[in-house]
Amino acid sequence: MSETVIEIRDLTKEYRDFWGKRKVLALDGLNLDVYRGEVFGFLGPNGSGKTTTVKLLLGLLFPTRGHAKVLGKDPGSVEANQHIGFLPEESYLYRFLDAEETLDFYGRLFKIKSAERKRRIDILIDKVGLDHARKRQLKEYSKGMARRIGLAQALINDPDIVILDEPTSGLDPIGTREIKDLIIELKKQGKTVFMCSHLLADVEDVCDRIAILFQGKLEVMGKVSELLTEQGVVNFKAQNVSAGVRDNVTKLLENDGSYIGTEKASRSLEDLFLKVVRESTASAASAGEAGESS
Ligand SMILES: Nc1ncnc2c1ncn2[C@@H]1O[C@H](COP(=O)(O)OP(=O)(O)O)[C@@H](O)[C@H]1O
Ligand SMILES: [Mg+2]
Repeated sequence: MSETVIEIRDLTKEYRDFWGKRKVLALDGLNLDVYRGEVFGFLGPNGSGKTTTVKLLLGLLFPTRGHAKVLGKDPGSVEANQHIGFLPEESYLYRFLDAEETLDFYGRLFKIKSAERKRRIDILIDKVGLDHARKRQLKEYSKGMARRIGLAQALINDPDIVILDEPTSGLDPIGTREIKDLIIELKKQGKTVFMCSHLLADVEDVCDRIAILFQGKLEVMGKVSELLTEQGVVNFKAQNVSAGVRDNVTKLLENDGSYIGTEKASRSLEDLFLKVVRESTASAASAGEAGESS
């Protein structure tokens, strides 16, 4: 049925200090399967072992116990890594290169031929919305722009699996929304996305499944829709409801024994923020037009 593209079995990592004495059990017997084509959210507070897991998947660290396989291959092998795109927690990009030069540099590392490189660079710069800044040096980029060029860099080898470590860290809600939309776009293209985050709001509306890690241990795993559904609870929504109707409905449910409560409908703070910014942008634009015509 679902093809496993990342297999993690009993994966354990213990760090030792310089003297080999004090140990940190960063990851403790992790078992996990990531399926082809899904967006998998790897959640946990700071220090819970997310980046350690990513480093093990890339072969940058060796496990103390257990193993991981990427497309059935050992982490760190060329066969595995050529199919992976990786956005590190902190992107180390060359500040004096512009967007085109940055992608060209990484394209060369993957030995992509010149014409194909140029084609991919154009597509990626357009996709991450940096067309207007393609000739600008990265040192002038905002955090959001830097994150977006980092994402383009992670995609230069047209990977099957995209690993993103805290892709929205340091971004405002608009930058966050843009990255989330790009992740949804990657899923539509059939790519598998494994994203780490300590922000719950990041993963809620883009991930198919999530795992929650705490102090190196897997605490919860499942489909977002199922984890967030309150079993057996139904919400009714109504507008401009009269007091009489409201009382009747409440009584009906009370008599049935199924009544829990009534509350005013609310939207998420993210929705509100984006709405306010969009409306202000629109009114600023129309004020500008009015100013010009007068
Ligand atoms: N190179 C290292 N040496 C020693 N301890 C480390 C090292 N890297 C991470 N740790 C520790 O391992 C734990 C997990 O870290 P990390 O995987 O970076 O967590 P997360 O990405 O979830 O914030 C933390 O307690 C961290 O301090
Ligand atoms: Mg981390």
